Parts: sequence; C-alpha cells; structure tokens
Amino acid sequence: MDVISVIRTKRDRGELSPEQIDWVIDAYTRGVVADEQMSALAMAILLNGMNRSEIARWTAAMIASGERMNFDSLSRPTADKHSTGGVGDKITLPLAPLVAACGAAVPQLSGRGLGHTGGTLDKLESIPGWRALLSNEEMLHVLDTTGAVICAAGDGLAPADKKLYALRDVTGTVEAIPLIASSIMSKKIAEGTGSLVLDVKVGSGAFMKNIEDARELASTMVALGTDSGVKTIALLTDMSTPLGLTAGNALEVRESVEVLAGGGPADVVELTIALAKEMLDAAGIKDADPAKALADGSAMDVWRRMIQAQGGDPDAALPVAREQHTVTAPESGVLTRLDAYAVGVGAWRLGAGRARKEDPVQAGAGIELHAKPGEQVTAGQPLMTLHTDTPEKFDYALASLEGSYDIAPAGTAFTANPIVLDRIA
Ligand code: URA
Repeated sequence: MDVISVIRTKRDRGELSPEQIDWVIDAYTRGVVADEQMSALAMAILLNGMNRSEIARWTAAMIASGERMNFDSLSRPTADKHSTGGVGDKITLPLAPLVAACGAAVPQLSGRGLGHTGGTLDKLESIPGWRALLSNEEMLHVLDTTGAVICAAGDGLAPADKKLYALRDVTGTVEAIPLIASSIMSKKIAEGTGSLVLDVKVGSGAFMKNIEDARELASTMVALGTDSGVKTIALLTDMSTPLGLTAGNALEVRESVEVLAGGGPADVVELTIALAKEMLDAAGIKDADPAKALADGSAMDVWRRMIQAQGGDPDAALPVAREQHTVTAPESGVLTRLDAYAVGVGAWRLGAGRARKEDPVQAGAGIELHAKPGEQVTAGQPLMTLHTDTPEKFDYALASLEGSYDIAPAGTAFTANPIVLDRIA
C-alpha cells in the first residue's frame, strides 16, 4: 500500500477501501505517513466526503489505534454525554453528578477549550486543588465510589485521533462532518460507555451553524454508536445565544453550583434536566426524577464527593478576576438578540480561552450577562460585565462585542428559540 494512491482515490472522488483505511490510519499513527500527506487526505475528505461505510471503517481503525476501556466491574449501568461545544456550555458540571444521583455511573472524559468554546476541564481546574489527570485505576475508583468522574482522556485512548485532530486544527480541516463524527465517536466507543447522549449544538456559537448540517452530523454519530452496540441518541440544541448568564471558567463553576443548589438560570436547568432524562432512559433507569434530585440536594452531595475525590475543595472560594468593565444598554426596549459567537470570542479574548493548546487560561476571566433575549432593558442598565486579570485586553474584547446585540422598542413581540430543537435516535 502507498499513501499517494490513497490520497489520489479520495482526491478523485473515489471510495476508500477498508484495507486503504486500516492501513493509512495505522501508518499515520506509527509515523510512517507524514503530516503533510495526512493533511492532503484530510482536505480531500473535507472536499469530497465519505460514505457511511467509509466513516464506520475509519472510526473502527481509530479505535483500534489504542486501548479500550471497560466498565463491566461496576454495579450500575453507564451513561455519558458529549457536547459538540458552545458558549456558556457548563452543562456537564451539574449533569454528571445529577445523573449519578439518579442511579447511573457517569464516566465523563472531557476536553479543554480551544478557540471561542470553553472546555469542561478548564472550568473545573478553577476549583482549588482539583485534578483533571487521573490514571485509569483512579478514574475507575472515583466512578465506583461517587458515581461520576470528569477527567481528561488518557493518552492510550484513540491515539490516531489525538494526532489527526491536532493536524486538522492547523490545516483548515476541522469542519468535515465525517472527520468530526469519527473523531468524537472513536473516543466515546473506546471509552466503553454503555449509552451515550449527544448534545449537538446549532447556531452562531457552534461548529454547526445550520440545522441541516447538525442533523447530518447527529445522524452519522448515532449510527456509528448504535452499530457499535452503544445505545446512542442525539439532541439538537440551540446555540444562537449563550447558555445561562456566564461564559468563563470560574464564572461557569459558580453558576453550575447554583443549579446544583436548586437555583440557576432557567435555560441551564431545562437543558440539564432534558439531557439527564435522556441519559437515564438510555441507561434503562426508569423511575428517577432529576428535578427532584436537584431540589433535594442529592445531586449536590455527589458533586461535593466527586470534587473531593479528585483533590478539589468544594467549599473553597473561586478565583475572581482582578479587573471588571461594565457594558450598559444604550437605549431602553426589549433585548431581541445576544450573539453566542461574539460573547464566546469576547470571553476568549479576556483570557478565558486559549489560542494555542499550550497557552494558560485565566480562571477568573470571562463575561457575565445581566440580561437575556426577551427581557426588557432600560437605558444605562448593565448589560454585561467583562472580567479579566489583564485590563489591556478590554478594548480587544469590546471590539468583538460590537454589534453583538439588538434592542427593539418596548412592546416588540419576541419569540425565543426552543432550547431543544430536535431529537435523533
Ligand atoms: N470534537 C472532537 O473531539 N473532534 C472533532 O473533530 C470536533 C470536536
């Protein structure tokens, strides 16, 4: 087999054979196929696509590049959730302990933020002492004793994807549905969860800007999971405006704890409960009541034990940024639009996110919203507060927020997008 013939097949809109796929993934993982050759192939896939059987074989080859985990020793059924990424998307934080409090085991292997979307591990690392890196044994121990674990995926899980994702990130080939679907699902199938709920975000703050692309991505991933014996369903959810009232690491932890305490913004609570119901149903747990587990403190109890088991102090004060800047409403009326992408870029520029994988993030940086679409605002009232340790970044962040919202005359009719737009099973 030679890599040039594999690249030419896809360049000329052909179908890759199972042998070509197995060979190229293995050879790339071993360093026999060079980065420039793999990036040519990734671009050919982005331009010419792959059919369902090519995607299934590509995913299987990436799984076979590393280890597979196994949770058969646990007494509870496993359920995991994956979000394709959004702005203010802190849902994993309340969701994992909530689903554990209702009887499932939640092995949540999570990532760091890159670009304008936040990462779950960056958020949790703002809790003093909390550790994202666990050995497989430690992960299983936390899962077994608390019911939930949120940690970084080990290096042994789908190493082909790790290498390929880093390459796609710097070659303009991230946005290919076959590559996104196989990347996400290879990690989730190798992780060994029994059931999986996908939160596929749609809108300006998401990878998928329109519902048709989101449906295509969701149905490709659902088919990959189902064919591998993982009960998989997807919700398509709105990401045209940020989730909740915060975007930024410690700010989002604070809001998640409010949800676990029975409060928090209505949209975060609604989506957390909708995803919890799907996870519990997929895991075969029928009689649980996630709303009750938030109200009676049982989800909070799991959260506290889970944070402590990973070295964190759930009672410690969260970091606060050194400087704040408030943006006020220029006029009175109804806030009819608040753009997720602009808020995500603003939070990122304030220091909440990173431009390169090795960059540090600021725990306290981000944006706090004081109004959401549909609410009345009065001229001069705070619309958002920007937080950073590096005030020279305010102008840069403010530039991204220009034109990010609309205020219409009072009394203008406003219809909010539903949070859950579709369900694919
Ligand atoms: N998340 C992943 O893990 N892979 C992708 O390709 C895109 C998002």
